[in-house]
Amino acid sequence: MQTYHIITFGCQMNEHDSELIAGMLENSGYVPAEDQHEADLIVLNTCCVRETAENKVFGLLGRLGKLKKQKKDMVIAMGGCMSQQEHIGQRIKQRFPYVDIVFGTHNLHTLPDLIAQVCEKKQQIIDVWRDSKEISENVPVKRFHGVRAWVSIMYGCNNFCTYCIVPYVRGRERSRQPEAIIKEITELGKQGYKDVTLLGQNVNSYGKDLSPGMDFADLLVKINDVQGIERIRYMTSHPRDFSDKLVETIQNLPKACEHIHLPVQAGSNSILQKMNRGYTREYYLSLVEKIRTALPGVSLTTDIMVGFPGETDADFADTVDLVRRVEFDSAFTFIYNKRRGTPAAKMEEQVPEEVKSARIQELIELQNEITLRKNEIETGKILECLVEGPSRTNASVMSARTRTNKIVVFRGEQNMVGKFLPLCITGYSLTHLEGEVVPAQ
Ligand code: SAH
Ligand code: SF4
Ligand code: F3S
Repeated sequence: MQTYHIITFGCQMNEHDSELIAGMLENSGYVPAEDQHEADLIVLNTCCVRETAENKVFGLLGRLGKLKKQKKDMVIAMGGCMSQQEHIGQRIKQRFPYVDIVFGTHNLHTLPDLIAQVCEKKQQIIDVWRDSKEISENVPVKRFHGVRAWVSIMYGCNNFCTYCIVPYVRGRERSRQPEAIIKEITELGKQGYKDVTLLGQNVNSYGKDLSPGMDFADLLVKINDVQGIERIRYMTSHPRDFSDKLVETIQNLPKACEHIHLPVQAGSNSILQKMNRGYTREYYLSLVEKIRTALPGVSLTTDIMVGFPGETDADFADTVDLVRRVEFDSAFTFIYNKRRGTPAAKMEEQVPEEVKSARIQELIELQNEITLRKNEIETGKILECLVEGPSRTNASVMSARTRTNKIVVFRGEQNMVGKFLPLCITGYSLTHLEGEVVPAQ
């Protein structure tokens, strides 16, 4: 029996694509190998959002080259966002001839075919489609989690934030038909999934390319009716497109969770403008107000970047000020990194590395303080949690999730998986809460 092993880099979209890759491979008779050294086929699903992500892949390719010398029949396939860039294909051809297949984000569904071709011809295949006209429905999927499921509602991005490579490697926005989405989620409900996360680079522009018109709020209303599904999450929300209708809809939908990932990127208007984000700090702050009024107790998380070209001390101070005002529950913080082909890479006034490092340090310290404070506030509360399984970091305790997307670890039993339990919060750290099962009255 042939075995496979997938190594995934990058965001939830890639994680979910890996679930599709696994589904297709298992449909073609492959079985999973826990250890990459044992696998007949290794698939790298890559990310190129920052250089560090690419360097990790090159490092891994080097190590796989040594493995391939001992296992000549092993097949190595590389897909994902990094493969989608033309210069990467060239580099693989020249420097990594032992990589058997390079495929892109638009032709993920052709992987089984490409594997068959490579096994027959024994020649490197680089097959990267430039775009995709149609969405491939009915690709089999092997879900990696049992309680929570990811569902893509759209692909690509039209925003072209000036620092970002995603629109170049994921193509233009394409929304899935609502019927296909509802069908998938209905099936998930029947299979016992309780929590779905809708995925898209900018879920708030869902439906703009569909006729007859249907927007993200309308889609949420439909999903709320699906039996068995109790929690609906979504990411990522672009602040610019977060409409009043959407705020009102999530306020009224019982299953829409009180967590919104709302990347702000920067707190300075001049930087936001140079980033082409399409909103100001005042707009962002008023949106946060609106959301907090509609959804009391909502958890807000964000992405923030430091060191965008031209960012002055005053610009950075605006970011720090915004972070203090909003008090995000948590934040992913990034150092701006030049990406080939994006407008920001050619901008003058690139910020020196040591300035970027000092800024990110300051920002992380501030956010950690806020995250701890926010988590502390939860202690003593009884929260409804969905039990997901043994904790990833400590298998002797169970891990559950609040509606606000906080992880709660607690002493529990395997038979609690998939159940909703009230947990009393007894402790906290930067990464999670600690809880105890509340005894039945
Ligand atoms: N679609 C999402 C984000 C996708 S990329 C959105 O619009 O928010 C995830 C995060 O990576 C971004 O939010 C941004 O903060 C960061 N990022 C993107 N390009 C980057 C770059 N060139 N350098 C550093 N961070 C970057
Ligand atoms: Fe990148 Fe901006 Fe699109 Fe997000 S919205 S994927 S940051 S271009
Ligand atoms: Fe995601 Fe990285 Fe691609 S963040 S969309 S896997 S470039």
